Amino acid sequence: MTTNALITGWGMYAPSRVLTNDELSTMVETSDEWIVTRTGIRERRIAADDETTTTLSVNASRDALAVAGLDASDLDLVIVATCSPDYPLPATGVLVATELGARHAAGFDMQAACSGFVYGLATATSFIRSGMYRNVLLVGVEVLSRFIDWTDRNTCVLFGDGAGAVVLQASDQPGGLLGMDLFSDGTGAEGIIVPAGGSACPAGPTTIAERKHFIRMAGREVYKYATRQLTESSLSALRTAGLTVDDVDQFLFHQANLRIIESVGSSLRLDPSKAYINIEKYGNTSAASVPMALVEAVAAGRIKPGDRLLMAAFGAGYTAGAAVVEWTADPARAFLAPGAQTRLGKPRVEASEFAEPMAVS
Ligand code: ACO
Repeated sequence: MTTNALITGWGMYAPSRVLTNDELSTMVETSDEWIVTRTGIRERRIAADDETTTTLSVNASRDALAVAGLDASDLDLVIVATCSPDYPLPATGVLVATELGARHAAGFDMQAACSGFVYGLATATSFIRSGMYRNVLLVGVEVLSRFIDWTDRNTCVLFGDGAGAVVLQASDQPGGLLGMDLFSDGTGAEGIIVPAGGSACPAGPTTIAERKHFIRMAGREVYKYATRQLTESSLSALRTAGLTVDDVDQFLFHQANLRIIESVGSSLRLDPSKAYINIEKYGNTSAASVPMALVEAVAAGRIKPGDRLLMAAFGAGYTAGAAVVEWTADPARAFLAPGAQTRLGKPRVEASEFAEPMAVS
């Protein structure tokens, strides 16, 4: 009998601080018009000083566990997909497992930048299909605000913080991952990079003075590569599933740039109304963007049992990943689960309130 890995729980968390394009325009030379036209982003969420990658993960995960009706102590494995961990070591996955009370679970981090959640979905599914584990928590999470150079307009307008989590469980029922494609090409390493802080360039006073511990990006090159590779990975995943673009009910693309999504959509000739878009609210949340889009799309009533979803992401590395998933869970579970809700804070703060602690000179 085949064992499938079905998504039985889901949750997300977005910090309550909202940073608008107009507020950003007071920090660097940019404008709401430039950012909206070039990216589709209107605002993004920024973690509070006392929030970390672990706390965002835990908030999203508690909802996911509640929706699944699963106790943390029943988890076998916690995978945290992130490129902005609490520490270089220990792994954030270990901290999240402990904070949740997942005392029987193994934990580790998955670093594939923005493609991390899709890589994690493949990994979690493999653990379950092999028979090794039955209950896996997968989190896509970033606190990129701590890795951004807030004086660099090329990058600081693009990114945001957030978390999305899913519970995958072993089942004899059909569904789950139907097909996938994972891709990497290290010749693009310079395209998106944090140059210092690793073994190639250890952190020190010089690297800090040269601002090498922040994200640097060659936007135009990344844009071209992302557009081509997202299309190719999506088609490859559909081929392995034996499906076509027309068989997909909902497209959940990595929310890096609205123009990239529109360009990929037009290459794939998909019905634009089937692509879920929330980039205007969150910006590029890297590994969190696909699961956050998934949770919002379920809450919006856009996903029902039997639907086929195509998740696709592209990120630093370069990496890309696409997964075709058959959704099986009743969306109403999210509303029945005690305590589970989409955690979206509303309060706004003035730019001056957070520009101070985030400005690293
Ligand atoms: N405000 C105003 N002007 C700006 C800004 C800004 N925030 N940022 C750049 N500019 C300027 C540039 O300096 C440039 O000026 P120049 O022509 O005098 O040199 C001009 O605007 C145009 O720059 P382009 O790079 O041509 O702008 P483009 O249309 O390509 O948009 C962008 C830039 C939004 C970064 C786009 O290239 C992009 O989205 N790239 C892909 C990013 C991505 O997908 N990342 C995913 C992975 S991220 C990860 O893995 C962590």
